[in-house]
Amino acid sequence: MTQDLYKKAEQFVIDSFTKLGKTSQIKHFERTVFWIKQLKADADEALLISAIAHDIERAFRKQDVKDKKHSHSYADPEFFRPHEERGAEIMANFLKKEGAEHKLIDRVKMLISKHEEGGNDDQNLLKDADSISFFENNVPTFLTKHVSEVGKEKVKEKFDWMFNRITSEKAKQIARQWYEEAIKKLE
Ligand SMILES: [Fe+2]
Ligand SMILES: [Fe+2]
Repeated sequence: MTQDLYKKAEQFVIDSFTKLGKTSQIKHFERTVFWIKQLKADADEALLISAIAHDIERAFRKQDVKDKKHSHSYADPEFFRPHEERGAEIMANFLKKEGAEHKLIDRVKMLISKHEEGGNDDQNLLKDADSISFFENNVPTFLTKHVSEVGKEKVKEKFDWMFNRITSEKAKQIARQWYEEAIKKLE
């Protein structure tokens, strides 16, 4: 039963991005789950569901957030708060429909709603795993697509922010080399 809900959430994420032809984004989600497990071997179901689904908002992105990508920095709360909050809402609705327990739903909501900025230990853990997986998987897209869309300066800001926001030393150690390579390639 427990494993079921994770599998269902994973399928929901895969289907949502596949529908948009954005299957290339799925690797980042799968690897966020992998890094959560590396950072916390006994990570609970809510953490794993939040890891696979933390960026679900991107599959349901509304025009206002699309516009902010150009007018705001990636590190601007005005840009990332709707991304966090709508993602949390989408997953809460999904889990509710699947008949999940309130406790699990609330925990997933709590985790996704702060995955960019962190807060408590588990919110920080998700944020750190997200950052590692970002540097492991998303850099090529940022060096090409995002540079042409928003310019080098904003992409540099994004790289710096994604690295500097990491809380745990272990996570920082894992991400550092990828981060430094990314900055070099950008120059
Ligand atoms: Fe995110
Ligand atoms: Fe992410």
